[in-house]
Amino acid sequence: MNFPEWMQHIQQRTERALEHCLPSKDLAPQRLHDAMRYSVLEGGKRVRPLLCHASGAVFGANAEALDTVGCAVELIHAYSLTHDDMPAMDNDVLRRGKPTCHIEFDEATALLVGDALQTLAFRLLASPLPDISETQQLTMVQLLADAAGSRGMAGGQAIDLASVGKRLTVAELEFMHLHKTGALIRAAVLLGAMCSKADATALDALGRYANRIGLLFQVIDDILDIEADTATLGKTAGKDVDNNKPTFCTLLGVAGAKTLASELRQGALSTLAELEKSGGECTRLRELTDFIVDRRH
Ligand code: IPE
Ligand code: IPE
Ligand code: MG
Ligand code: MG
Ligand code: MG
Repeated sequence: MNFPEWMQHIQQRTERALEHCLPSKDLAPQRLHDAMRYSVLEGGKRVRPLLCHASGAVFGANAEALDTVGCAVELIHAYSLTHDDMPAMDNDVLRRGKPTCHIEFDEATALLVGDALQTLAFRLLASPLPDISETQQLTMVQLLADAAGSRGMAGGQAIDLASVGKRLTVAELEFMHLHKTGALIRAAVLLGAMCSKADATALDALGRYANRIGLLFQVIDDILDIEADTATLGKTAGKDVDNNKPTFCTLLGVAGAKTLASELRQGALSTLAELEKSGGECTRLRELTDFIVDRRH
């Protein structure tokens, strides 16, 4: 399979797995279930599940375990976007080419969608996983909890909101990005690897790789916010400037942000080269790294 075929294959199986784990619209409370499905299904690139599968492939993991773990991270991601778009946060009306959840439904429903997606993610991660010991699974649950919580994504979002109108240093901005976006990306990479025979040295290298692509992912998101148009993005372009958010583009200029992105890409790829020396199969992770940089939305 070439990369586009592999990507489509993983996206399709992720879509099926998400569809399967979300409560049906016919179940009460129908409106909440309808809104949960609205926030999760259709339109996402599924980068985090793709990372789980690519990272699991480095030392050969069970694909069904990777589906489950990938869905758990994707559900947390969908919750984070639903809340990120609300008026108290970024106040966005467009997401994945559709009205945001609080516009299509209402604010209270969007809050509850986030709450319910988060608990569903942990319900899924705690369900039986093929070839994985219960002790290992407990460690995985803790890892996702840390990545989503106040020392991870939610903490990064708090810093983002507290930084409106401020000029941060490069180190402060890195800290914010590594938390608000990097934490879930890192969880995706590590959880995928933890479904395989990756040892502590491999997990350490994958953690360093993940920190680089986590930061890289948000640097590219910041660049796209300036360079891409709303129709291509499926979300409102120019929102960071409108909301007075500090980004790598405001700090370094778009050209400086692009230089940083290419340094991060190089750093990420050299970590993968380390893993390949110890017998890891990193083709998909290498291709995904390029996809993260070259994506148009
Ligand atoms: C957007 O994430 C928000 C960030 C963390 C930068 P994605 O670009 O992965 O969004 P979807 O899931 O494809 O819509
Ligand atoms: C989102 O960052 C990070 C999380 C949702 C955790 P942004 O606010 O930049 O994401 P977009 O641009 O709205 O997708
Ligand atoms: Mg935001
Ligand atoms: Mg936003
Ligand atoms: Mg953004």
